[in-house]
Amino acid sequence: MIWLIGCRGMLGTELARLLEGGGRPWVGSDIECDITDPAALRDFAARQSPDWIVNASAYTNVDKAEDEEPRALAINGGGAGNIAAVAKACGARMIHISTDYVFDGRGARPYQEDDPINPLGAYGRTKAAGEALVRAACPDHIILRTAWLYGRHGKNFVATMLKLMAERATLDVVSDQRGTPTWTHTLADVIVRVIAHGGVQPGAYHVTDEGETTWHGFAVEIQRAAAARGLIPGGCDVRPILSSQYPSKTPRPAYSVLSKSRIQSALKFQLPDWRAALAAYLDELSENIPAPLP
Ligand SMILES: NC(=O)c1ccc[n+]([C@@H]2O[C@H](COP(=O)([O-])OP(=O)(O)OC[C@H]3O[C@@H](n4cnc5c(N)ncnc54)[C@H](OP(=O)(O)O)[C@@H]3O)[C@@H](O)[C@H]2O)c1
Repeated sequence: MIWLIGCRGMLGTELARLLEGGGRPWVGSDIECDITDPAALRDFAARQSPDWIVNASAYTNVDKAEDEEPRALAINGGGAGNIAAVAKACGARMIHISTDYVFDGRGARPYQEDDPINPLGAYGRTKAAGEALVRAACPDHIILRTAWLYGRHGKNFVATMLKLMAERATLDVVSDQRGTPTWTHTLADVIVRVIAHGGVQPGAYHVTDEGETTWHGFAVEIQRAAAARGLIPGGCDVRPILSSQYPSKTPRPAYSVLSKSRIQSALKFQLPDWRAALAAYLDELSENIPAPLP
């Protein structure tokens, strides 16, 4: 039995869709089984006897976390640790999702899994705490760090760009932060592959789509590819700006590219280029394939 925690989030919804089409039994939970409540987790595990637990739940509002760090820490730190303790107790393997925000973004080459972490803000600190608690409580863990996620369900950069590009004549987008846009489908597919493989060694792995760009480069490609599919008109002037010109209360890593060779060699599998993944995602939107049920 696979237990997907956070099944109604952006990643969770996509993973639920893949699990629904797969051959293994699975069960999902979200906020009704609060991960900050160890007894609720234990009860759920006792009823379902999972052999895999995937934690896709989190406190993900990066800006709000600056004002609510204790609450973010309770979920991203303590909550993740509670899940890990339950996984250990019931003999399940745990897959935990983490983030590029554990790094400070001052690097100049793709981050390796064992590079030193140094989060810049509250969200990154709470996610780093979660990684540490998962490691301590459940030796049989797989931590998947990802970045720049977008998908069908929830707030994300692609959805925001499509809306604003349809409404505005100009749009200013940051051009001095580099990373890799990642479709939730890519990460959900990797999670399914890790479970099917069964023998991936415990530890941390980086999972994003391949290649790199800036937020401005991502926006330009969204506009080009979405306009080509008739999703937006295409006349918006997308202008590059510096991070210093964009008001944000949270410092964001300037360089977020992650090295994916570890997961690719473990799974003998090639991650898709971010432009190809974006094209497939926009194809889904333009073909009006129904979004998965919430
Ligand atoms: N989005 C990104 O760009 C990004 C980048 C790097 C890493 N990640 C990581 O990827 C993972 C998935 O992110 P996402 O964007 O899919 O997140 P999301 O859309 O915010 O989904 C998280 C889910 O967890 C639920 N949740 C929150 N607190 C909970 C609690 N105490 N108990 C049980 N469920 C709770 C949320 O419910 P509510 O909505 O009701 O709060 C939501 O359904 C997270 O670990 C995140 O840190 C995301």
